[in-house]
Amino acid sequence: MKAIICKKFAPVSELVWEEVADPIAGPGEIVVDVKAAGLNYPDNLIVQGLYQFQPERPFSPGHEGSGVVSSVGPDVKMHSVGDSVAFFKGFGAFAEKIVVSERMAFPIPKSFPHKIAAGVFMVYGTSYHGLVQRAKINKQDEVLVLGAAGGVGLAAVDIAKSFGARVVAAVSTKEKAEVCKGYGVDDVVIYGEEKLDKEGQKALTKELKSKSVRGGFSIIYDPIGDCFAEPALRSISWGGTYLVVGFAAGKIPLFPTNLMLLKGCAVSGVFIGRFQQEEPRQNAQNLKEIGELLGSGKLTPFISETIPMSESVDAIERIAKRGVVGKVVFIND
Ligand SMILES: NC(=O)c1ccc[n+]([C@@H]2O[C@H](COP(=O)([O-])OP(=O)(O)OC[C@H]3O[C@@H](n4cnc5c(N)ncnc54)[C@H](OP(=O)(O)O)[C@@H]3O)[C@@H](O)[C@H]2O)c1
Repeated sequence: MKAIICKKFAPVSELVWEEVADPIAGPGEIVVDVKAAGLNYPDNLIVQGLYQFQPERPFSPGHEGSGVVSSVGPDVKMHSVGDSVAFFKGFGAFAEKIVVSERMAFPIPKSFPHKIAAGVFMVYGTSYHGLVQRAKINKQDEVLVLGAAGGVGLAAVDIAKSFGARVVAAVSTKEKAEVCKGYGVDDVVIYGEEKLDKEGQKALTKELKSKSVRGGFSIIYDPIGDCFAEPALRSISWGGTYLVVGFAAGKIPLFPTNLMLLKGCAVSGVFIGRFQQEEPRQNAQNLKEIGELLGSGKLTPFISETIPMSESVDAIERIAKRGVVGKVVFIND
C-alpha cells in the first residue's frame, strides 16, 4: 500500500507519499481500506514532534477516517469484512490501509458518504464532549465560540445551535464570519488577523460583552488561546464555563485567578484523546448521539475541500497557517 510517511520529526514539507508494507490485524484489531481521512490541526503538530503524543517513527499522520473492513484479526466480534466503518486512532489514517482496534471503529450505513464520516469524530467528538459533558449545554445557554470557522469551532457552532442555544461566533475575517452565518449564528465578532496588545484586548472584551444579551456568555469555547483568551474570559457570565480546547493562535494563556473568583466561573479542560481512554462508554454514547443528529440532518458538517491523499502535504501545511475553513478531507480513489 501507499501512505504519507513521517520518517523523523521535521517540517511538514518533509512528509513523503511512498510504498510501505500492508498492515496486519492482531487480536481484537481490524484492517480498514481507507476511503477518506479527515485533516485536523494536530496532524501538523504530530509530524513535528510538537504534539502531546509522539508515535514511533516512521509513521503516517492522520487521526481519523472512514473506509471498508478488509480483514479482521483473531477474537474480533464487532466487525466483519465488507463493513463500512468510521475510525479514530490518533495516527495512521493518511494511508491506503490502517489497522485499528475494533473498539475504535464504528459502523456507518453503507449509503453514508465516506467523506463526511471521515471528518466527524475528531471535531464533533471533541466539541460534543466539551459542550455536553463539561459545560452541560442547554437551550438557555449563550455560547461564545472563538476560531468559529475552524474544524472544532464550526462543529461547536453546529452542536450548540442543534441544542437551541444562542451562539456568537468570533473569527479573524469577514469571509469566515460569512461561513458561520451560514450555520445560523446569532451574531459575529471579527477580531482580525493580528495579535492583540493591551488596548486591543480591552476593546475585544468590550465588543464581546456588547454581543451578549444576558450580561455575559454562559459557555465560552476556546480552541485558539493566546491573546484572545483573557478578553474572552472577561466576557463570561456569573457561574459560566470556559472550555480550554486548544492553542491554535500560539501561546498557552495564563489567567489571573481573581477573574474566576469574581465571575464564580469554571475553567474546564477538554481533551478528546484522554476522554476516549478514560471514559470509553461515554465516548461511544456521544458518537451514537452524534450519528443520530447527523442522520436526522440536525448536524451538517462543512467539508470545504476534498483532496487526493497523495497530494495532502500542502493542506497539512496550510492548516498551520490559518489557511483552512471547516473541514478538509483526503480521499483515496
Ligand atoms: N482538546 C482536544 O481534544 C482537541 C481536539 C482537536 C483539536 N484541538 C485543538 O484545537 C485547535 C483547533 O484545531 P482545528 O482542527 O479546529 O484547527 P483549524 O481548523 O485550523 O481551526 C483553528 C482556528 O484557529 C484560528 N487561529 C487563530 N490564530 C491562528 C494561527 N496563528 N494559526 C492557525 N489558526 C489560528 C483560526 O481561526 P481565525 O482565523 O478565525 O482566528 C482557525 O480557523 C488546535 O489547537 C488543536 O490542536 C484540540
